[in-house]
Amino acid sequence: IVPAMTWVSTAEAVVMVGAKPVFWDTDEEGLLRKDWEKAVVSKSKAVIPVHLYGKMVDMTELNEKAKSLDLFVIEDGAQAFGAFQYGRAAGTWGDVGCLSFYPTKNLGALGEAGMCLTQEAELAKKIRLLLNHGQPIRDQHELVGRNSRIDTLQAAFLNVMLKYFKENQQKRKTIAKRYLDAFSGIEELGLPSGILDSDHNAHLFVIQTEKRNELRDFLAKKGVGTAIHFPVILPEMKPFAIVGDFENARNLANIGLSLPLNPYLRSVEVDVIIECILAFFRK
Ligand SMILES: Cc1ncc(COP(=O)(O)O)c(C=O)c1O
Repeated sequence: IVPAMTWVSTAEAVVMVGAKPVFWDTDEEGLLRKDWEKAVVSKSKAVIPVHLYGKMVDMTELNEKAKSLDLFVIEDGAQAFGAFQYGRAAGTWGDVGCLSFYPTKNLGALGEAGMCLTQEAELAKKIRLLLNHGQPIRDQHELVGRNSRIDTLQAAFLNVMLKYFKENQQKRKTIAKRYLDAFSGIEELGLPSGILDSDHNAHLFVIQTEKRNELRDFLAKKGVGTAIHFPVILPEMKPFAIVGDFENARNLANIGLSLPLNPYLRSVEVDVIIECILAFFRK
């Protein structure tokens, strides 16, 4: 069971193991809708909560439900490194947690990197085999695996970036707070809830407005880059093409806009972004 709004790889991973993604709608902010058990059928094996934009799904509730339905929980924590729920890190709640260290992530390498987390020893052993051509030791192949090792250089970069992680998180939260304070009076603008809380790592600052495309063009003309995460929901993509009721996810695809948010933004740049957005809504 996969949320309809996520990065495409959440569903690609499902197809790659020979399973079928069953999509379910999200809530208004892009987290798997709480009634996802309605998607469960006798063949269902796992549910994938995605901590979209860095905001964590309620994992106590999800885990309880998954356990009662005998489903594995695979946490997609690709966007949520550094978020904690009741002091427990994103990625450590499921049977397996998946992290991404793609350069734009809160902890980013300079190229491709990622990580799986699990507390189950047998699973850990199998994952280690899979990521290195099924070899427990050199030239002994126990299963068909692949090359999914973190490149050594990228691992070294991550060790360095880790030292700046806390400081960078603080910078993200400071910028997020400035946006919240500046935009709270704009009635027609939806703001990300809970972005200053510890179970949100302020990865993306996604606002919601019916005038999304107009605002995006306006900001682009002023030299302010924005992004859409993501403009097409998975069930409506060619490889999946499933008809269904994914109203909240579709709405987010149509009205969501990610504002610049990263620790390298200078305070004067944030001033300009805020001023541009206020000017747009004053028009
Ligand atoms: C929600 C989500 N899942 C999975 C991924 C995949 O991560 P990677 O690009 O490191 O394979 C991403 C990356 O953007 C993501 O945002």
